Amino acid sequence: MSVTATTSPAVGTLYVSPSPRSRGMPRVTMTLRSVVSVGSILTKLQQDCATPLPVIRHVADSMTADMRAGLAVDGGSNLKMILSYVDSLPSGNEKGLFYALDLGGTNFRALRVQLGGKEERVVATEFEQLSIPQELMFGTSEELFDFIASTLAGFAEKESKKFHLPHGRQREIGFTFSFPVKQTSIDSGILMKWTKGFAVSGTAGRDVVACLNEAMERQGLDMRVSALVNDTVGTLAGARYWDDDVMVAVILGTGTNACYVERTDCIPKLQGPQSSSGRTIINTEWGAFSDGIPLTVFDRDMDAASINPGEQIFEKTISGMYLGEIARRALVTMAGEGSLFGRAVPNKLSTPFALRTPDICAMQQDNSDDLQAVGSILHNVAGIESSLSARKIVLEVCDALVKRGGRLAGAGIVGILQKMEEDSRGTIFNKRTVVAMDGGLYEHYPQYRSYLQDAVTELLGSEISKNIVIEHSKDGSGIGAALLAATNSKYDHDF
Ligand code: BGC
Repeated sequence: MSVTATTSPAVGTLYVSPSPRSRGMPRVTMTLRSVVSVGSILTKLQQDCATPLPVIRHVADSMTADMRAGLAVDGGSNLKMILSYVDSLPSGNEKGLFYALDLGGTNFRALRVQLGGKEERVVATEFEQLSIPQELMFGTSEELFDFIASTLAGFAEKESKKFHLPHGRQREIGFTFSFPVKQTSIDSGILMKWTKGFAVSGTAGRDVVACLNEAMERQGLDMRVSALVNDTVGTLAGARYWDDDVMVAVILGTGTNACYVERTDCIPKLQGPQSSSGRTIINTEWGAFSDGIPLTVFDRDMDAASINPGEQIFEKTISGMYLGEIARRALVTMAGEGSLFGRAVPNKLSTPFALRTPDICAMQQDNSDDLQAVGSILHNVAGIESSLSARKIVLEVCDALVKRGGRLAGAGIVGILQKMEEDSRGTIFNKRTVVAMDGGLYEHYPQYRSYLQDAVTELLGSEISKNIVIEHSKDGSGIGAALLAATNSKYDHDF
């Protein structure tokens, strides 16, 4: 669908007021100015966030270069390239009862899984999911970890007979903590900073496993974290359990990030004993990438108003927490300067984050002639009465931003793949290589997914991209964390 707002006669009718008083010359002049204004704001937005091939090529190449710089030395680039201490991936032989906790962006999840080895694989799972109460995102570290530990305690109490823990053993947990953590071992790591709008006091600079242990003690809960993992690492482990060709995992949800399997001899900053497998997983923390990203004035304003200005620029352009907000900011300007929705800017539209990414996604699924669903979402979310032409403009705004997001994410994936291929020629592009994807944005937004795939195909060409399988791995990160708890169990295991 395409609307050329500057010339479309349909857009012109948008602003004609039914009131007789406004039908005089001055009103007409203003109407024409408004039409031009909305059109020019849209055109400028589309130009500023365009991602033609040279732009995505530059992003992919820069991602590769930043990865190398971050592997050379800590602080060598925007990409932290964090060592995960995960040196061996699940084999399928894992057995026993393991728990997983997942603290991500929007939700908190506790899960248990009974693993049955190669033959039986996942024998049983149970989980409980809660949204993280808003006030905890701005509270104290103790409050947040008490919430986690008490949810876990309630969940552990409900363990059913399908699950068996050998006598005398402590329940072990894979703790997925989806924020930048400098790992100090497989079961400890220091929170570097919060992302995704979290501003909990007293956690940054602390070992998050110690924070959880203290909270579990306060609850009288006798469980032990045997693996601390990022959600990307959990996803990679979970997907690899089923498919040996998985080499990269990407989260596109509230926030975004990617990890991949790296050769230890390609990590100059790695000191001390190297893993026996010669491989390890690197958590790139690519949300902090920023080179060459096309930005609009709405991105800059949103960044300036955020709790972490100047940080997480890639994340702020491509992930679910922000796409709706960037669109809202563009619409507010169109409403204010171009009277997109009539004379006034609808009050509710002026509230930051009033328009969420699931809203713009739902609007983009509307294929009806009169865009009725778009109209009712605008009405429900922001109290807007919209004409058909205004709805078309809204969709153009959403599409421009989602296209940029999907294509940049695709370019980031190519950046990682080409880094791996450069170091081990023929091992990535000449054989089947799987990129495991998870996160609500990727799962629920078909347009985003197809823009992402288009960019990968454009960058790699049709032959190579046939070998690159970009695949949704649903909820792999929970099972993945449990599997890593099994691999790193303190008890003897026969796998
Ligand atoms: C965090 C990452 C995480 C990603 C996806 C980002 O904001 O920094 O650690 O993997 O969100 O959840």
